[in-house]
Amino acid sequence: MASWDPQQYERFAEERARPFRELVARIPTTSAVAVVDVGCGPGTMTATLAQRWPDAAILGLDSSPSMITAADERRTAQLTFQLADAAGWRPQRGSLDVIVANASLQWVDDHETLLPRWAAALDDGGTLAFQVPSPGFDPGLAGVAARERWAPGLAGALGATGPRSATPVLDAAEYVRLLCAAGLTVDAWETTYYHVLPGDDPVFEWFKGTGLRPYLDALSGEDLEEFSADIRTELRRLYPREPFGTILPFPRLFVVAHRP
Ligand SMILES: C[S@@+](CC[C@H](N)C(=O)[O-])C[C@H]1O[C@@H](n2cnc3c(N)ncnc32)[C@H](O)[C@@H]1O
Repeated sequence: MASWDPQQYERFAEERARPFRELVARIPTTSAVAVVDVGCGPGTMTATLAQRWPDAAILGLDSSPSMITAADERRTAQLTFQLADAAGWRPQRGSLDVIVANASLQWVDDHETLLPRWAAALDDGGTLAFQVPSPGFDPGLAGVAARERWAPGLAGALGATGPRSATPVLDAAEYVRLLCAAGLTVDAWETTYYHVLPGDDPVFEWFKGTGLRPYLDALSGEDLEEFSADIRTELRRLYPREPFGTILPFPRLFVVAHRP
C-alpha cells in the first residue's frame, strides 16, 4: 500500500481543517460516550473532538502506520488511536454515538455495504458524518496518468485495473437513499472551497500529500522525475499562479446522518 507522509499532509493544515470543522459543526448529537474518527490521519482534527464531547472515549482509526505513529503523540486517557482498515472495521451494533470520516472514505471501496454497517453501529441519537471530494472530481491527475507515456507503466505497477481515475464516491442522492433506508435522517450538501495557496507549484504540493501518492509510489528514478514534471506542468496550466497566490477550487460533499 502507498505510504502516507504526515508532514506533507499537514502542509495545508488550515485548508484541510475547515471542512472537518464544518462537518462536525452540523452533528446534532449533544452527549456522547463513544466516538470514532475513521481515517484519522495524524490525529490533529481527532483531538478537537475531545472538546466537543468531553465525556466520550474518542478512538482514531487509520490504515497507515506512519499516520498512527504521528497521531499517537496526541494520545491521552480520553483519546486513543489504532491501526485499522476501514474496509474491515466491524463496530458492534448500537455501540457508538458518533462516527466521523473526514476526507478518508474516498480511499475505501464499496460504500453501499460499508455505510449501512456503520449506520447499524449507531446508538439512538447517534450520528454518522463524512466528507469526501465531490464525485468525479479530478484536479487533472488522471488525465496525465492516462497518457500513452504513463498508462502502461502505472497499470503494471498498480494492478490489473491500473490507476483509478474515478473514486468509489457516490452521488449525494445515493447516500441520502442508502442512509434513509438504514433508518437515519440525512442532511447532505456540496460546497466548493476556493483555496488560495501560496508558493511555487502549490497544487502539486497539495496533491502530493493525498491524491498523487498512488501514482508517485508506483514510479521511481527517472520515470518518477519525468512524471512529476508532467504533472507540475499540467497543474500549472490548470491552476495558474496569480499575483496573490494560486486558486484551487475544491468541491466537497458532506453527509450527516442521524439516528433519531
Ligand atoms: C486525506 S487524509 C484525512 C485525515 C483526517 N481525517 C483529516 O481530516 O485530516 C486520509 C486518511 O485516510 C486514511 N485511509 C485511507 N484508506 C484507509 C482505509 N482503508 N482505512 C482506514 N484509513 C484509511 C489515510 O491513511 C489517511 O490518513
